[in-house]
Amino acid sequence: MYSLLFYSLLSAAAGVAIDKRTDVPAGYVAAPYYPAPHGGWVSDWSESYRKASLLVQNMTLAEKTNLTAGTGIFMGRCVGNTGSALRVGIPQLCLQDGPLGVRNTDHNTAFPAGITVGATWDKTLMRARGVAIGEEFRGKGINVHLGPSVGPLGRKPRGGRNWEGFGADPVLQAFGGALTVEGVQSVGVIATIKHLIANEQEQYRMYSLVQPGISSNLDDRTLHELYLWPFAEGVRSGVGSVMIAYNAVNGSACSQNSYLINNILKDELGFQGFVMSDWLAQVSGVSSTLAGLDMSMPGDIHTVPLATGSSYWMYEYSRSILNGSIPVDRLNDAVTRILASYLKLGQDRNYPRPNFDSNTQDAEGPLYPGALISPSGIVNEFVDVQANHAKTAKEVARDAITLLKNVNNSLPLSKNASLKIFGTDAEKTSDGINSCADQGCNKGTLGMGWGSGSARYPYLNSPIDGFKTRGANYTFYNTDSFPSNSNPAATDTAVVFVNADAGENYITVDGNPGDRTNANLNLWHNGDKLIKDVAAKYSNVVVVVHTVGQVLLEEWIDLPSVQAVLFAHLPGQEAGDSLMEVLYGDVSPSGHLPYTIPTSESNYPESVGLRGFEIGQPQDTFTEGLYIDYRHFNKAGIKPRYAFGHGLSYTTFSFSSPTITPVTKLTAVPPTRPAKGSTPSYPTTIPPASEAYWPDNFDRIWRYLYSWLDKTDADNAAKDASSSTKYPYPAGYSNVQKAGPAAGGAQGGNPALFDTAYDISVTITNTGSRSGKAVAQLYLQYPTGIAFDTPIIQLRDFAKTDELAAGKTQTVKMRLTRKDMSVWDVVKQNWIVPNVSGDYGVWIGESSDKLGWRCGTAAAKCASATSPV
Ligand code: NOJ
Repeated sequence: MYSLLFYSLLSAAAGVAIDKRTDVPAGYVAAPYYPAPHGGWVSDWSESYRKASLLVQNMTLAEKTNLTAGTGIFMGRCVGNTGSALRVGIPQLCLQDGPLGVRNTDHNTAFPAGITVGATWDKTLMRARGVAIGEEFRGKGINVHLGPSVGPLGRKPRGGRNWEGFGADPVLQAFGGALTVEGVQSVGVIATIKHLIANEQEQYRMYSLVQPGISSNLDDRTLHELYLWPFAEGVRSGVGSVMIAYNAVNGSACSQNSYLINNILKDELGFQGFVMSDWLAQVSGVSSTLAGLDMSMPGDIHTVPLATGSSYWMYEYSRSILNGSIPVDRLNDAVTRILASYLKLGQDRNYPRPNFDSNTQDAEGPLYPGALISPSGIVNEFVDVQANHAKTAKEVARDAITLLKNVNNSLPLSKNASLKIFGTDAEKTSDGINSCADQGCNKGTLGMGWGSGSARYPYLNSPIDGFKTRGANYTFYNTDSFPSNSNPAATDTAVVFVNADAGENYITVDGNPGDRTNANLNLWHNGDKLIKDVAAKYSNVVVVVHTVGQVLLEEWIDLPSVQAVLFAHLPGQEAGDSLMEVLYGDVSPSGHLPYTIPTSESNYPESVGLRGFEIGQPQDTFTEGLYIDYRHFNKAGIKPRYAFGHGLSYTTFSFSSPTITPVTKLTAVPPTRPAKGSTPSYPTTIPPASEAYWPDNFDRIWRYLYSWLDKTDADNAAKDASSSTKYPYPAGYSNVQKAGPAAGGAQGGNPALFDTAYDISVTITNTGSRSGKAVAQLYLQYPTGIAFDTPIIQLRDFAKTDELAAGKTQTVKMRLTRKDMSVWDVVKQNWIVPNVSGDYGVWIGESSDKLGWRCGTAAAKCASATSPV
């Protein structure tokens, strides 16, 4: 867990508030957009808003502000704890990490990480894992799940947290995120898509007193076509909350960036839930409120030494309403958004209260560990929420395993193969599977990265456990240096386990402060040398890689004795048996790469490297635009080691009889959006000061953040409301609700964007001799001669078959929406089909570099063709 000391040090570094944007290169703007749009105008949410606004009408000022912020860091059982409004039946809300399972608890499942889920390319498993995660959060009494992560998108191969999300492509990321949201919310837990937006590296992400957070400078088209795409799909799935990133976008801190929150998220994407800050990402009071932030987490001010307990909101929010700085409707909208999500997910009906404590593993302990003196009580009830989720976890881990190379049918292993196993990654560390807080070390089998996106293992089924269970004939050398005593025999198969780790910035592991600054894209623990040494002595070598993302394989991949290479990604607790099922051929591997593997780091444009220290605000300008990962490799004509989407099987598949059927006739500009539905009407008159007075005889806890004010303070604030000095509102401020941009109209945007333009199908036959699952990948190529520069191909949909026995056939269906066929026109501020009658190439195949069929939209016909890249 984070320590109070860490946060205090971070915030104690003295300095001044920073508001200039002079370092941002010309042309990157975050134009003001006010006011914050009222929520409730989407029909799906009307009933929840009706009920929520009835509650809000009956709440006092301090009850309302109490729900908009946390009670302070480490001031409750969960990583985030809002205040309550018990008089109207609303308890404190518990917010807890993270994307792969409940963080900092026990009797939970440590699911495979997002990147592993992406590698399955399996929509059914994506959703099933979401349901299982939701059930565990609900079982622990958590109201708000702090996941899934769909940003970072994976622009920077060295970025520390790419592994929490689903892969370096907006569409893969979008399916992973949206299906997780649907799964989690199907059991009544509010999901949170994070981190909005462009949080592509860990270092320099946070605002401190000495330095503003890094500014991600990106143009409007890149924002829409890449980074926003998965957020749009999450909103379309009805996600209840969105977490704002630490960094700035185009010079304006995301947490108070009205362009992002008010314009893009709440108006264009029609987001109806609530917007929370990342932890200590809020850097102002009134400005962030006006810019559309609805909830401050964990409630404290980032720059004041945290030990004192102070907030931009809570009591200050109450004061800013009383003195007229914040329009009353802004607070009412924020609280209504929070309560509407709570009610929409049915949390007013028998929802469990938290029964665990993120801060301690003891049964009893302080209720407010961040306080100097805290009452104690039972904090951990050790509720087992695992049910049969290990099964789903194992299926995901197994179906993600990606076979990159397999010569001479080296895999699958025969039952009696004589194995020599090398590498500490094959077995659990003897220090204990949870010996490093938040998995902030790389010892033994790597099942997940480190940071808030980690969970404790209930157990870790390691590869060695798996070999044991199989009764394999093996000798294990638990070392990362090649041992001199392994006695290679010609009949041996050597299996080498290697890994590469990364994580969140508050922990540094082996010189890597989250991002892989020290490890580069190399294997850790001298993995390359171990593989080469083993390959020098054994003629049949299988390499298994547990990794957060891209690693360089060049030093050994072409060695003749390296016969097979598997990426098992980050499998979570089920590392062992899932791998055995693939190694021994119970199933064929069916994972595919969720990113490209380069031959050298110089394959990438300089702009996707990590940004280093700069005086003032570090600037990270996305000059590569749309060209990240395979979009870049294809444009630059660089042949990677393994292409995006690559993945072999023990069997072979043929794709045949593709069809393309026009469904909705496209127009250059989408049909006009529907008008916003009605929203609750909120009072504009300032409530009486008495609504913020402390209750009588209230027993205060030191450092706890409360929403009440001393009577004198409240009365003075109320007097200030009639003063002639007015709060200096930001440029462009207005309090007149807008109709909303043309590209909006429903959750995710104009509903017409999601009309199906074409249905596509393809028949897949297992032409080999073993059973297996195939993945059909659909990439779109824009017609030639259009006015927009577009990547050669872009993933738009995919489908995985069921397990197909040898000789069996299945027809899978995919689709292209209007949005899929559009580009974001920055001048028209809309999704435009660049040439309605043009011949789009709809490419279908097994990976981005193996696309054997082209369906053309002009003639609505398909034919076999040579892969465009
Ligand atoms: C900071 C991380 O960026 C975020 O993902 C996480 O949910 C919060 N801390 C809470 O732990």
